[in-house]
Parts: sequence; C-alpha cells; structure tokens
Amino acid sequence: MQEKLKAIATGARTDISMAKSQEELKKIQVKYLGKKGEITAVLRGMGQLSPEERPLIGSLANKIRDELEALFAERELQLRKEEQQRRIAAEKVDITLPGRPQELGHLHPLTTVMDEIAEIFLGMGFTIADGPEVETDYYNFEALNIPKDHPARDMQDSFYFNPEMLLRTHTSPVQVHTMEKLAPQVPVRIIAPGKVYRRDDDATHSPMFHQVEGLVIDYNVSLADLKGTLLLFARQMFGSHQQVRLRPSFFPFTEPSAEVDISCVMCHGKGCKVCKDTGWIEILGSGMVHPRVLEMSGYDPELYTGYAFGMGVERIAMLKYGVDDLRLFFQNDIRMLRQFR
Ligand code: PHE
Repeated sequence: MQEKLKAIATGARTDISMAKSQEELKKIQVKYLGKKGEITAVLRGMGQLSPEERPLIGSLANKIRDELEALFAERELQLRKEEQQRRIAAEKVDITLPGRPQELGHLHPLTTVMDEIAEIFLGMGFTIADGPEVETDYYNFEALNIPKDHPARDMQDSFYFNPEMLLRTHTSPVQVHTMEKLAPQVPVRIIAPGKVYRRDDDATHSPMFHQVEGLVIDYNVSLADLKGTLLLFARQMFGSHQQVRLRPSFFPFTEPSAEVDISCVMCHGKGCKVCKDTGWIEILGSGMVHPRVLEMSGYDPELYTGYAFGMGVERIAMLKYGVDDLRLFFQNDIRMLRQFR
C-alpha cells in the first residue's frame, strides 16, 4: 500500500511539472485529488486495512495530499504568469512607450474677437442682449420697416422654414425684442452678438456668420454720439491712430443711414490691395433708428431718438489677424486655429 501511494505521488509530481497549461493542470488535479481521484480512492479504501496499518497509511496519504496541493498551487501560479506573458507578447503593444500628452484647448478666434468687442462696449456702459436665431418674418423684416414686397429683402435672402419663419438674416431683430421689453424706458444701451444666416457662399461670405448689433435710445441721441462711440471702439480694437468715416447709405430701419469705414489696418490709409487703394475699409452698417421703427416697438419718436449699428465679426477678425479667406474660420483645420492660442 505504501509503495502504491509513493508510486502515485511520483507520477503526480511528474505530471504537475509537465503540465503546459492551466487547463491541463486542472485535469491532472482531478485525476489525483478529485472525488474519484487516485489519492482519494486510497483514503476511501482505508476501511479494508488492518488497524495497525490504518494510521500509517492514513498519515502518509494525508502528507502526500498536502504536498501535491502545494505543488498544484505553485504550478498554477507559474502557468498563469507564463500565459499572461504570452498574451502581452502577442498583443504587440509597447507598454514602455510614454503616454500621449493631453493638449489644452483654447477659444476659437471668432469667440475671442466677439468677447473683445463685447468688452469694449461693456466698458462704455452697454449691456448684452440676445434673441432667437429662428425668427418670425415680423421681427426679421416687418418691425424693421421692411414690408413683404420691399426690394431690401433681396439683399438678405434667407433660409425659410415656412413663409412666416426663417433663420435671422441679421441681429437687428434683437433691437425689436429689446425695445418691446423695455419700452418706454430710457436709456436703452445694448449690444447683441450672435449668429446670422444668409444664402451666400464665397471667399468673403459664408451662409452662417456673426454680427454684433448695437442700439442706443435716449433723449437727444445724435449721429455725433454714434460716430464718437464707433471711433472709440475702432481705436480700442485697432489702435489709437484709427480714424472713422461715415458714408451715406440706405437701410429701411435707419434714417439717415451710413456705412462706417475705418482707416485701412494694412496701409494706415496710404492705399493698398486690401483697401483697394482707397485707404478705408468698411466694417459696419449704421444709422439713426427710423421713427417708424421706434413707434412700432413702443417708443414715441417725438420724445426719443436713437442710433443703431451692426458689424460683421468675421470681417473684424480678418482685419485684426490678417486672414484673407473667411472660410478658414470654419474649416476647423487645427493648424490654422492653433495660431490663435
Ligand atoms: N442689419 C444690417 C445688416 O445686416 C446692419 C445694420 C444694423 C444697419 C443696424 C443699420 C443699423 O446689413
């Protein structure tokens, strides 16, 4: 019996050391120590032994079982490590490579310019107003003195949802929302930055672009206030040497109306390609709020006057940074945007 036990133990030791996988090891463990295993069978058969033999064989069998259990555990650990190593090698991942650094993002140049514009006007006592990008015909046109068949609508062809709803073509409807909310209180002194939409698409026009609207209503507001405010703005934005000039123009919602030019930021007024040899660059449309517009939104035009302006943010950003194609702002090429960090 003793010999048999020792032979089983020797066989088990060899089997354990030869096992090539955890799976194989498991099978060997069952073969020797399982319910129907060889060692178990010996321990079960103890009843047939003589009383003298029993403790001897019993303690030997227990010793061998303990020894084998330890060997199984040891080999199991070894095999698990080996298998892990094989898997890592097969993955072909170089775990010694350094990690990729996370890049810190930054604001889009148009956002930065819009913030800068807002900052300048906030410094002059303006507050910020806003309105919806999906507008009704009334706010985008009618209340701004642009009736249904007015030719000025052609200049701002838009994206319509239905005959009464469209994507706003300018930020001027915010003038109307603001007046409706505040009337008849004065002073009104707001800017309204935001997105606008038109059916245009070329190097200087994009179907979506940004404007900053301005509106001031009070007693005795004049064109001189408009010019002074915009001169201060131009000097803070582009430098203290800046000049502005007003050119007569037409908008249905202002009377009189003016396009506002600043001296060319490239040649400082000498004349170059950018300003087409005029020395001046147009940056916005403006004028004195039309009496009918004031009246429609609750301000008595006999008591109050006001001025309004609307500037193109992309245009200002292009001038400020010397960008010659507007589309670069929207292509999201990281090499372009990174320069404005
Ligand atoms: N809304 C006009 C445009 O988009 C600009 C403007 C605003 C003109 C306010 C006058 C007063 O062209």
